[in-house]
Amino acid sequence: MSFVLFVLVFFVFLVFLLLLFHYGTNGRKYWLHRRVPYREPCPIFGNFGATLTLRRSYPEMLQYFYEKYKDEKFLGIFQARRPTLMVMDLDVVKSILTKDFSSFSDRISVSTDTQREPLLRNLANMSGVEWRAMRHIVTPSFSPAMMKAMFPLIADCAHELKEILLEESTHEVDVPNMMSRYTTDVIGSCAFGVNPGSIKNSESPFLKMSKKMFRADRTTVLKRYCRTFFPRLFKFLNLRTYSPDVETFFTSIIKQVLTERRETGKVRNDFLQLMLNVQKTETKFHMTDELITSNSFIFMLAGLETSATTLSFCLYQLAKDEHLQSELRAEINECVRRHGGLNYEAVSAMRLVAQSVQETLRLHPPTPMTTRLCTAAGTLPSTDLALRVKDNVLIPIYCIQRDPDHFPDPDKFDPHRFSEDLYPPGFLAFGEGPRSCPGVRFGQLMVAAGLAAVLGRFAVGPSARTTPRVQHDPRSFMLKNKGGIWLHFQPIQERFSEL
Ligand code: HEM
Repeated sequence: MSFVLFVLVFFVFLVFLLLLFHYGTNGRKYWLHRRVPYREPCPIFGNFGATLTLRRSYPEMLQYFYEKYKDEKFLGIFQARRPTLMVMDLDVVKSILTKDFSSFSDRISVSTDTQREPLLRNLANMSGVEWRAMRHIVTPSFSPAMMKAMFPLIADCAHELKEILLEESTHEVDVPNMMSRYTTDVIGSCAFGVNPGSIKNSESPFLKMSKKMFRADRTTVLKRYCRTFFPRLFKFLNLRTYSPDVETFFTSIIKQVLTERRETGKVRNDFLQLMLNVQKTETKFHMTDELITSNSFIFMLAGLETSATTLSFCLYQLAKDEHLQSELRAEINECVRRHGGLNYEAVSAMRLVAQSVQETLRLHPPTPMTTRLCTAAGTLPSTDLALRVKDNVLIPIYCIQRDPDHFPDPDKFDPHRFSEDLYPPGFLAFGEGPRSCPGVRFGQLMVAAGLAAVLGRFAVGPSARTTPRVQHDPRSFMLKNKGGIWLHFQPIQERFSEL
């Protein structure tokens, strides 16, 4: 009897293994059948096993493939079991993002289960007609007039950043942490008119929750991996993208603001107001409170860490280059003097600051890649590859921006390469085309104002914990330095009290 049981268990186990093997290897010849040059994948993990085990970061893996297949226009890769076309040729990339946008209008969605997780029904994740309508609504939030109107809020936060650095800068500073405090306050006040109080209070509940949103421990990495590549398992295990307290916190803050605006009739120049206005007018688009909440949430998600990371890397690069830092300080002082303070006009006139921000974004793009989903079958532009609806496309922003064919001596931090043109071909840090980052100008202003306030009052230099070079943190999807960014801030005589 026990022998029969043993054989039965063995048989079931064998069937399980065979099914698992079939599941893991099924589809591995996908790119071979499509006659696309490709990387042989590992079962289940595809070509990115090393990122899951945290041995290598995602951008490092992409860079490895990019260099190895540099002569090809595109390469077939497998993100876990998902076949994805990584496009390396800049002309093809540009066509996908702009000229042929109508055939690539969606991004590979992180989740379509927005019933269960309503916060995910946001601009970055939406598709088709819904995305188009929402994009149309939020675009005016970032118009030059809105940016100018919002600038005093940004300037107040930049001023507070400088003040807190004066208080806390006796030792070396954990720069990304400090800059997240600044960007949290800027976005909190500009997006939904609340003051998170993160600059003054490093224990602010708002800051704690936004940090939780970007947590990159092993469990979060695994969960994110599972959500992206095994969505059914993710749902089956009842996992959630953000922990319930993060969801509740942000949902209730936005609800509070909405109630207050309705009750008091108060109108503000912020992103939330624009969506609220649409709700009040008769349009075909049904703007619900849930949609206002999820889209306010994406502004936090998309703007906070990207801008803080840019500021941190920019200060890291400048800490290593005293001469460039002095050039920037001279420009900042001159613009502040000419325009009577750190205002919109002064920051807009800081050309070398703008170039330094672009060069930081080139070398350290916080979003190292973006994606598109093929929405209409056709031939991949400038090639003879037939694409099918739902084919996944990946644009390796990080690799293209480090390609010596587009940027000679690519590892050198040289803002002067942007002196002729702030958006040369090959610069893709904000994406391109109709689905590019709508917050470009807002992000650039936030970063430039922060830089101006800091550099006008401090000489920034390396500290004992500054890493000699940047090594990507494999836990983070965004570009982060493994050892953090620690710098020394030495107060210097302020040239203009307006700063
Ligand atoms: C330095 C700062 C920033 C960087 C480097 C950055 C980068 C990007 C990139 C690469 C994309 C994808 C573009 C594409 O697929 O073509 C994107 C999309 C997006 N970004 Fe930004 N971003 C920044 C700041 C911001 C800010 C401040 C906001 C809003 C407050 C924002 C909101 C968004 C949204 C909503 C999308 C999705 C757009 C859509 O799908 O229509 N970003 N960003």
